[in-house]
Amino acid sequence: MTEQMERHTEKSADSFGDQRLQESSLGGVNGKDHALIQVHGLTVEYERALGKNEHIVALKNFSLDVREGEFVTVLGPSGCGKSTLLNVISGLVFPKEGDVRVDGKPVTGPSPKWAMVFQDYGLMPWRTVEKNVRFGLEMQKKLDEEAEERVRHYIRMVGLEGFEDAYPRELSGGMRQRVGLARALAIEPEILLMDEPFAAVDLITRELMQDEISRIIAKTGKTVIFVTHSVDEAIILGDRLVVVSARPGRAKCAIEIDLPKPRSEHSLRSSPEYVSLRDRVWSELSAEVQLGRGG
Ligand SMILES: Nc1ncnc2c1ncn2[C@@H]1O[C@H](COP(=O)(O)OP(=O)(O)OP(=O)(O)O)[C@@H](O)[C@H]1O
Ligand SMILES: [Mg+2]
Repeated sequence: MTEQMERHTEKSADSFGDQRLQESSLGGVNGKDHALIQVHGLTVEYERALGKNEHIVALKNFSLDVREGEFVTVLGPSGCGKSTLLNVISGLVFPKEGDVRVDGKPVTGPSPKWAMVFQDYGLMPWRTVEKNVRFGLEMQKKLDEEAEERVRHYIRMVGLEGFEDAYPRELSGGMRQRVGLARALAIEPEILLMDEPFAAVDLITRELMQDEISRIIAKTGKTVIFVTHSVDEAIILGDRLVVVSARPGRAKCAIEIDLPKPRSEHSLRSSPEYVSLRDRVWSELSAEVQLGRGG
């Protein structure tokens, strides 16, 4: 994370082209709803082999607008650029082309307005659970009694009470993921960027965490971009679901999810709307997975 931050460079505020209007179907901006996050025409390349001038194009002309308070879930084949997208939005990776704006302002680096739950946990191995969770608050120099209560609250919420003094190496993958989640929530950001946050937890914990996230989001009105490999999870949690194409990733389609909330897999299973939505998402996604495999 530090290395990526160091790679941060000031980026000029490019003006948006006319293309923005043509792509508004993926934005859902209709004058009434406010697009809090505007992702426009992102192309991201990585150097593949240092010094050999080989590049890999992770994202190509990726555009997406996210309304304030919206929960957008993102599905796509492995390696299509989903983590890259979140890294660009959070200001940790900079695109070759295009830009990201939050509240109309270009993203030029990390900010307390948003927090990321990393796919690979992103924990500091030399810090205990409690100190990892407190990290974001330390960065913001918020270390009053209320902040300490917040740290305790979110550790409890993710079910890690009793592990405050444990180091990441002493935890299971799912427990580490929950520390990452508590750390992000403790900052109480406006925007949560979540990269497969429940991938390593067992099914029961996953359902509990899904309920908890839905409850917190409904209560606090946070804006969320949530990457997952689970079609069911994407439907259960999302207001809108975006399918990303095989690499180089672009937003292939965006589907509004109008099913009543709160949702659970159990209660939705018998709903014909859910079954047909699930079929549609599966076919969009499996076409991309096959393309990604050269099929
Ligand atoms: N730091 C990096 N340096 C070089 N290549 C990278 C780097 N990060 C990602 N890539 C490449 O960019 C592409 C997109 O990677 P990314 O991690 O964004 O995919 P993803 O959709 O999140 O995949 P997964 O579902 O497996 O997590 C991949 O081909 C990957 O090899
Ligand atoms: Mg990823």
